[in-house]
This record gives sequence, structure tokens and C-alpha cells, in this order.
Amino acid sequence: MNILLLGSGGREHALAWKISQSPKVDKLFIAPGNAGTEQTGINVAIHATDFDALKDFVVYNDIHMVVVGPEDPLVKGVYDYFKNDPQLVSVPVIGPGREGAQLEGSKDFAKAFMMRHQIPTARYKSISAGNLEEGYQFLESLEAPYVLKADGLAAGKGVLIIDSLEEAKKELQQMLEGMFGDASKTVVIEEFLDGIECSVFVMTDGIHYKILPVAKDYKRIGEGNTGLNTGGMGAVSPVPFADDLFMEKVDERIIRPTVEGLKAEGIDYKGFIFLGLIEVKGEPMVIEYNCRMGDPETEAVMLRVKSDLVELLEGVAQGDLKDRVLEEDPRAAVTVMLVSGGYPEAYEKNKVISGLEAVSPESIIFHAGTKNENGQILTNGGRVIAVSSYGANKEEALAKSFAGANQIQFDKKYFRSDIGFDL
Ligand code: AMP
Ligand code: GLY
Repeated sequence: MNILLLGSGGREHALAWKISQSPKVDKLFIAPGNAGTEQTGINVAIHATDFDALKDFVVYNDIHMVVVGPEDPLVKGVYDYFKNDPQLVSVPVIGPGREGAQLEGSKDFAKAFMMRHQIPTARYKSISAGNLEEGYQFLESLEAPYVLKADGLAAGKGVLIIDSLEEAKKELQQMLEGMFGDASKTVVIEEFLDGIECSVFVMTDGIHYKILPVAKDYKRIGEGNTGLNTGGMGAVSPVPFADDLFMEKVDERIIRPTVEGLKAEGIDYKGFIFLGLIEVKGEPMVIEYNCRMGDPETEAVMLRVKSDLVELLEGVAQGDLKDRVLEEDPRAAVTVMLVSGGYPEAYEKNKVISGLEAVSPESIIFHAGTKNENGQILTNGGRVIAVSSYGANKEEALAKSFAGANQIQFDKKYFRSDIGFDL
């Protein structure tokens, strides 16, 4: 079969790497891809949200399945676009429709969904310009720190955690006045939860589901989880505290009610559900939903999926996921992200990347923000390259990924050397 994968980051390179290993795949295309994905398939210069151009490509290239990497095309309705077009309706899209993607696209929707299905999450109130006073009152009822979330997509920047009440009130008002554009016209105020986080990924065909290997990502730029939030500086899988007992609770209290809740509400959801969880005194609670895989978690998780991913994706599309097998690799996987100096603030692009071939074959290099210009690999984003490795344990995997991270060179390269330190 021919598969079209949408997106251009490290997550997409990891998905492309795994998909391309399947004997079921004839051709794999990636739109738009990066300098890494072209080693596993064919890059196509179409933006992941240019649905009309995607349609032409799918029709003329006999595509049998579309796998969506990032949230943007899902929230903008790529699933619905295919479903409502007579020429595309027979091509399955792996990812939810616009409605299901609201789990990520609207924090207010996600919180109300969790309330309707008794899924454990922080207490909250949704505030818009009309009920600002109520927002102030709710903030006064909480203890510091205060959590303010823009309702809509804000490129991962829409969550503020603030120590002082006065400051929180001020920020709330500024968010409603457009700090994140339309995304913060509504703000979700949440009770702060104190605990350790992990990322749980579920594949569902709308009825049945499979749980992928659990991972933990490291969002802050600085060692010891300090400094600004980034898209993610590394990931580890498995996560020791997500043991059988914890995962039983996650399954029973969170995953099952989520999948059943979507179905009960008539929401057609065939794709990935990403649960951002926090463990509070041994109990799992939902911090957020995403409608896609995580980045950089995917760069670790794909190493630990032993089964044919395409076989599983077919199960998602055909509604027979329960008959498919998901086997985990028992080894640990650790990903270290190399980023451009300055990231997540201003940084430069177009730096020549060298040393890729010097990295031991025991590590797998996933490109994130790179491009190929006349055979030269150049930096093309904040997060540049993810180095992933297997190990008998986390420490061994970590050591290999660090060795790889040190081999690769580009001007102002930076990476965290403490990935997994808190586990
Ligand atoms: P989100 O975009 O919802 O994942 O939020 C980004 C980050 O903010 C999360 O990964 C958490 O580290 C933190 N966060 C969000 N909500 C809460 C909360 N209610 N309590 C504590 N930390 C939170
Ligand atoms: N690593 C977190 C995310 O993909 O949103």
C-alpha cells in the first residue's frame, strides 16, 4: 500500500522510520517532511494544512492511507475534508475529525468532556470577557500557584503558572484581551496539581484501543527542569512509576471512559489520543489531552513498538484493532534533542550540520528542524535533531544518546545532558 504521512518534525521522522519498516508499504510519502524523512520515503512539497493540494496528490498517487502527525490539520478538519469528498472518502485518515480534535483544540471542551465522564482532572472554571469577576473570585478560592490556560491552540505557549494572586488576575485580564489572539478569548483557570508527569498514548478505532509504551518528556530548556518551556528536550520510555497498578487505574478511570465517552457522544475518533497525566499521591489525573502523538516522545516510543505499526494503523482504519497485536520491546529507549542556541527564544537557522555519519549505528537519528540544500544538511528550526538509543536500562540508553549528541556538530548546538534524571 501507499501511505502519505503529514508533518515535518522529529515525530514524523520517527513515524516514517517505523512505517517504512513494514512489508505492507510500497511507497511512503511525507508532506512536507524534512531532511531526515527523505531517507525513509519521498518528501512532497505540500503543507500539511493545504487540503486541496493534498487531495490532488492523494488522487494522482493512489494513496491508500493518510497518517496525520501534528494537531493543526486535525483541528482544521482534514479528516472531515476527506470524509466529505467523494474522491477521498475511501482513503482512511488516521486522526480524529474536527470535533474529536477539540480534545486538544479547546481546553474548555476537554475539561467539560472530562466532567461529563467523571474523568479525574484539576478543578477549573472557564472564563471569558462576560464573567471576568467570576474568574477573580475563583482565583481567590484557590491556593498559589495559579494555572491559566488559553482555550485554543497557542503553539504550546498558552499555559501560564503564576505565583501571585494579583499577577494572576492581571494576566487573566490580558489573556482575555488577546495575549494569545483568539486562542485566549476564553481562559481555563485550574487548580495547581503537584506531582510527576508522564505521557500515555492510545490508539483507537473508536471502539477498541491499544496502549502504546508510556514515555516521559522533558519540557524545560535547562538542566534539572529549569528555565523556559520548550517543545521538548528529550524523552524516556518506559517510565518506572507508571507501573502495572498505576496503568490499571489509568485504563479504568481515564482511557476507557475517554474512548467510551467519545463514542457515546457520537464523536468519530480513529487515531491517537495523547494523555498528559500527572501522578498525585499515587493517583493519575489528566493535565491535558492531545489528538496526536507527542514530540519528542514518539522518537522514544517508536523504538519500543516491536509490532508492525502499519498493521496496527490498518486496525484503526478498519475498526478491527482488537484483532491486532501490539508487542512492546522490553528495552529502554532514551531520546536527546539537539536544539539551536537561543531556543526557545530567538535563534538562527541555516547552520551546517556535520558528524551525523560518525554517530554509532546503535543510535537512531531523527531529524526535527533540518533541510537538505544541495546535499548539505542545514538547521531549519529550534529543535534540530533527536538522537534515540536502546539500552538494557535507561542509563545505558542515555549514555549512547549522549555520545551521539556529542558527535553531531553545528554552530551553537545545545542539549540537556540530564534527561531521565528524576526517574
Ligand atoms: P498543557 O499545555 O496543558 O500540557 O500544560 C503545559 C504544562 O503546564 C504541563 O505539562 C504541566 O507541566 C503544567 N500544568 C498544566 N496544568 C497544570 C495543573 N493543573 N497543575 C500543575 N501543572 C500544570
Ligand atoms: N511533548 C509534548 C507534546 O508533544 O505536546
